Amino acid sequence: SVVVLDFGGQYNQLITRRIRELNVYSELLPPTVTADRLKEMGVKGVVFSGGPNSVYAEGSPKVDPAIFELGVPILGICYGMQLIAHHFEAKVERAAVREYGKAMIEVRSDSILYKNQPGEQQVWMSHSDLVLAPPAGFQVDASTEHAPVAAMSSPDRKIYAVQFHPEVNHSIHGQEMLRNFLYEVCGCRGEWTMGSYVDEAIADIRSVVGGKKVLCALSGGVDSSVAAVLVHRAIGDNLTCMFVDHGLLRKNEADLVMQTFAQEFHMNVVKIDAKERFLARLAGVTDPEQKRKIIGEEFIRVFEEESKKLGHFDYLAQGTLYTDIIESGTATAATIKSHHNVGGLPEDMQFELVEPLKTLFKDEVRALGTELGIADEIVWRQPFPGPGLAIRIIGEVTEDKLDLLQEADWVVRDEIKRSGLDREIWQYFAVLPNIRSVGVMGDERTYAYTIGIRAVTSKDGMTADWARIPFDVLERLSTRLVNEVPHVNRVVYDITSKPPATIEWE
Ligand code: XMP
Repeated sequence: SVVVLDFGGQYNQLITRRIRELNVYSELLPPTVTADRLKEMGVKGVVFSGGPNSVYAEGSPKVDPAIFELGVPILGICYGMQLIAHHFEAKVERAAVREYGKAMIEVRSDSILYKNQPGEQQVWMSHSDLVLAPPAGFQVDASTEHAPVAAMSSPDRKIYAVQFHPEVNHSIHGQEMLRNFLYEVCGCRGEWTMGSYVDEAIADIRSVVGGKKVLCALSGGVDSSVAAVLVHRAIGDNLTCMFVDHGLLRKNEADLVMQTFAQEFHMNVVKIDAKERFLARLAGVTDPEQKRKIIGEEFIRVFEEESKKLGHFDYLAQGTLYTDIIESGTATAATIKSHHNVGGLPEDMQFELVEPLKTLFKDEVRALGTELGIADEIVWRQPFPGPGLAIRIIGEVTEDKLDLLQEADWVVRDEIKRSGLDREIWQYFAVLPNIRSVGVMGDERTYAYTIGIRAVTSKDGMTADWARIPFDVLERLSTRLVNEVPHVNRVVYDITSKPPATIEWE
């Protein structure tokens, strides 16, 4: 593998991802990792990433100096380049002119990183510090108008450094530079694929878990599904999945989950029918936060009660992603965090965690799911909140309203899929506001429910824009919702972005 040492820059996750796109396995490690550890891992190259600090500032992160002696190729990017300059005693200073955004470099050497590339090319810059002159033994590979040393190298020592960000798309030949570093300098062969990820992950899970029992809370969402199938490949029947059906799922969802995992994949899946429990506790409750709290608590109770009945488990498998880890800032934790994606498991449940997806991005998890033979229906599933339809029914949740919303939601999903918009739109669903209005159908007055359509585009759910669904699709949605869903006589389209609204209505 080629590892990226993380100095905190905003593109660091992207570097590992670009390396994996070049079929070389890569992961992000803390900068405190020792040279011995890297040697043990047999890494073929090390990338020092960007970061917000100044190398000359006191307490700024540095690397184990022995890494420079390993003979393993090094690529420094931005802060990483300044770190290399600093280590070899060159001067790093605050730049007179900060460069941010697109810049043109002029290639000034025959460094292998720029092989077959134009002498002048566009790159992405984002820095306030600058290397003014290269350290002894280094050559200048490129410069810009404001940065005399925009790139430098010491080919004998296999050390390369760039002030700009090759991992960002605006660096037009950036990916070629990374390829040259990996293939020409590190000698990587580019044989890593999702298939090899599966083999490595399976070997890894087996070596950690051994013959012990693993429990997995399966929600049917992409992440927990892919994690469960992967762990199942590794340890077979020593994995038990628990699927809590709280009755707030979408139409046919519980059946789809059981059919996929129990019947197709022959996994041990215990389905807990808890609809009555949840609906009883939600009766009469209208406040959104209270609804969420009740569902979260009830989920924990059901999980605890039912997992005890299943026997003793040493491990809990979770579909934690790279981004989850980065966001929460945790590395390894023996107790379960409250932000667990199925609703926050109790803090005092002592399990060791198995998190086989923790180095991947969402779209890589999807690719992995496909590699494992999981159907598109699950792999390409839109995000669905833990509290389910309860937070899309404004006001009290009743069985009748649940039935109505399940039907309406099914129509929305079906129509969006038929229109070929399902992979463009981040989330698309129906909402049941707590209002009825007057209409006329077949010469008769009606007094029935309104359905709200919510459809947004987004990258990560943190911000979102309302989707510009073509009018003809909206028209079909409106007609179908009124005709196919009993007790609906009006359809509205939510045209608010997030912020100021949120994606869900509660
Ligand atoms: P909001 O409504 O806050 O939602 O804009 C952002 C994203 O998070 C999903 N969501 C949840 N997911 N448990 C979850 O697992 C929850 O309680 C929850 N609430 C919202 C929502 O569907 C959207 O993708």
